[in-house]
Amino acid sequence: MDYLKVIGKKNLKGSVKISGAKNAALPLLAATILSSNKLNISNLPDVVDINTLLQLLEMLGATYDKNKNFLQIDSTTIDKTKATYEIVKTMRASILVLGPLLARFGHCEVSLPGGCAIGQRPVDLHLKALEQMGATIEIKNGYIEAKAPKGLQGATIVFDKITVTGTENIVMAAALADGKTTIVNAAKEPEVIQLCEIIRDAGIYIEGIGTNTITIEGSKQQLLDMKDFTIIPDRIEAGTYLCAGAITNAILKVENVEPKHLDAVLAKFEEMGFGILKDKTSITILPANKVKPVNIITTEYPGFPTDMQAQFMALATMADGMSIIDEKLFENRFMHVSELVRMGAEITVNGTTANIQGTPKKLLGTDVMATDLRASSALVLAGLVADGETNIHRIYHLDRGYDKLEKKLTALGANIIRDKEI
Ligand code: UD1
Repeated sequence: MDYLKVIGKKNLKGSVKISGAKNAALPLLAATILSSNKLNISNLPDVVDINTLLQLLEMLGATYDKNKNFLQIDSTTIDKTKATYEIVKTMRASILVLGPLLARFGHCEVSLPGGCAIGQRPVDLHLKALEQMGATIEIKNGYIEAKAPKGLQGATIVFDKITVTGTENIVMAAALADGKTTIVNAAKEPEVIQLCEIIRDAGIYIEGIGTNTITIEGSKQQLLDMKDFTIIPDRIEAGTYLCAGAITNAILKVENVEPKHLDAVLAKFEEMGFGILKDKTSITILPANKVKPVNIITTEYPGFPTDMQAQFMALATMADGMSIIDEKLFENRFMHVSELVRMGAEITVNGTTANIQGTPKKLLGTDVMATDLRASSALVLAGLVADGETNIHRIYHLDRGYDKLEKKLTALGANIIRDKEI
């Protein structure tokens, strides 16, 4: 197992190219199950979660050729419909094959994802929606057994809660269903929008893309004539590097980004006193004279993303005063708190609210444990400003979603070494 050694207090500067969005690539790879042709996909991030989904698609019968950030995939050869526990347990987002497999084959089995470090994360809304589309669903021996022998039927789905992968699963299922599906209270994340656009470009009528009501006219199980595409930039990776600039009070530029996807995040940097310069595809963060405390409530897009909460908590430890972060989406997403406290941060948690008393210049390097993907990056950020060495263990979490993190940070001036645990 690898760990990262971060030697703190190095000055960062320069620019970094942002990779394609993992959370856009995952549903788009699942959507290739709906395609009647081979596809070329560009700007694929080189992260473990993508390789996991490719491995799952290969187990189902797809073939692919990956060269750096370019992928050629043929999912037309898929002839199996079981997503096994062995693979689903390593990545919850494997649930994204449920909608497209069921829509194409009329049956499938997908291992039920368990809880995870950040909370229970049920998939009840995905299942209820598919049942409303005519599927029968049984949970047997830990597997979701879904059947719709005559194909899925269009339906009106009202989600009780906004769910990103739930919306994506139903968009994909609806694309091959018989008739019109309307999703009410749909997610509006840029990753959901790209999925809808790719399906629209394949000839499916979709109305309301980017709004909370999406209507899809299905193809009656006819596979889609999908076009080649390029994955949108990773807004969370971009936000994380901007946090690296902010926490070290550097001038740092992120390139290959879509600035409007980061509006809520950029507003918080500005509230904290940092300068922000934007052009069409890049954002530069400028140092603050004094880092001000901030209040953050995580919520669905276009609000402040839960996937940036841990990184802003690390940043809030540098503020002059008390910041408050309210985590509204996941009940257990404060696992990084105890690790930041071990580094000298003053943070108290009460239910879903964390109070962070800024202690600028007081973080000390030590051994810490990564607990989930974004928590891991918060520890790297804290390590960048801590006195001494921070050893971050269990960084397989980080490798799931950050493309060449230590290489990119090293190129910006950080001192980070990857080594093997003994
Ligand atoms: C996606 C993102 C993840 C991000 C999250 C919220 C991917 C691959 N992952 O996760 O990075 O943190 O959105 O922006 O895109 N819920 C239910 N029942 C369900 C589904 C969800 O109760 O059937 C609840 C969840 O427990 C959570 C909330 O709804 O409290 C939102 O979760 P959801 O949007 O579904 O998150 P994911 O799609 O899993």
